[in-house]
Amino acid sequence: MSFDRKIKIAPSILAADFANFGAECEAIEAQGADWVHVDVMDGHFVPNITFGPATCAAIRPHIKGVMDVHLMIAPVDPYIEAFAKAGADVITAHAEAGPHTHRTLQAIRAAGAKAGLALNPGTPVSEVEYHLDMVDLICVMTVNPGFGGQKFIHSQIEKVKQLRAMIGDRPIHIEIDGGVDPITAPLVAQAGADVLVAGSAVFKGGSVSNPAPYGENIRNIRAAAEGVWA
Ligand code: DX5
Ligand code: ZN
Repeated sequence: MSFDRKIKIAPSILAADFANFGAECEAIEAQGADWVHVDVMDGHFVPNITFGPATCAAIRPHIKGVMDVHLMIAPVDPYIEAFAKAGADVITAHAEAGPHTHRTLQAIRAAGAKAGLALNPGTPVSEVEYHLDMVDLICVMTVNPGFGGQKFIHSQIEKVKQLRAMIGDRPIHIEIDGGVDPITAPLVAQAGADVLVAGSAVFKGGSVSNPAPYGENIRNIRAAAEGVWA
């Protein structure tokens, strides 16, 4: 996985057909997705439950590119190894998930994955400061984690700007997760984000048997983020 700051669109399969993950992953990649974003929820850290490492392992062969696993679980440390074995390229844990974030990030890298740190909307950027040498990605939650289809929280744009300044020329991605669409994408791209997660805005209007809308949605988000409307 090489590093660059080009805009990357990462559809969240939270908005996909849960009975058809393999085909959905293949469809979004064929339609231009850069990464595949996989939301793991435990019904404890967040008020919703999705799936675990076995499902990640099952979908892995259907993803050619980056599998970006977002863990909304607490505790997180006991499960890192399992998600790494399942083939996650990036494993992102939440700063709010426990008292030992630094240890969690060490464990993710030790397991062979890129380490991501997610911040809830109420969590300040200072949470990242002493982890800068331990992270490959910072995920700014622009909704409260737990559900797709929520409204983008605009106060987070300032947070992205502050993080972008803090990162400087370190090879750390800034990922945005929640409420990303062609209207909000340019706001966060301008502020310094490079990975845009989008669930409902990518999957709307399409399906495995009619995947063309996925491509149109991805192109519209990318074009908006790059400052050129399609
Ligand atoms: C929310 C998840 C997101 C979610 C985004 O807890 O982490 O990845 O699927 O969905 P949209 O794009 O619909 O806000
Ligand atoms: Zn997510």
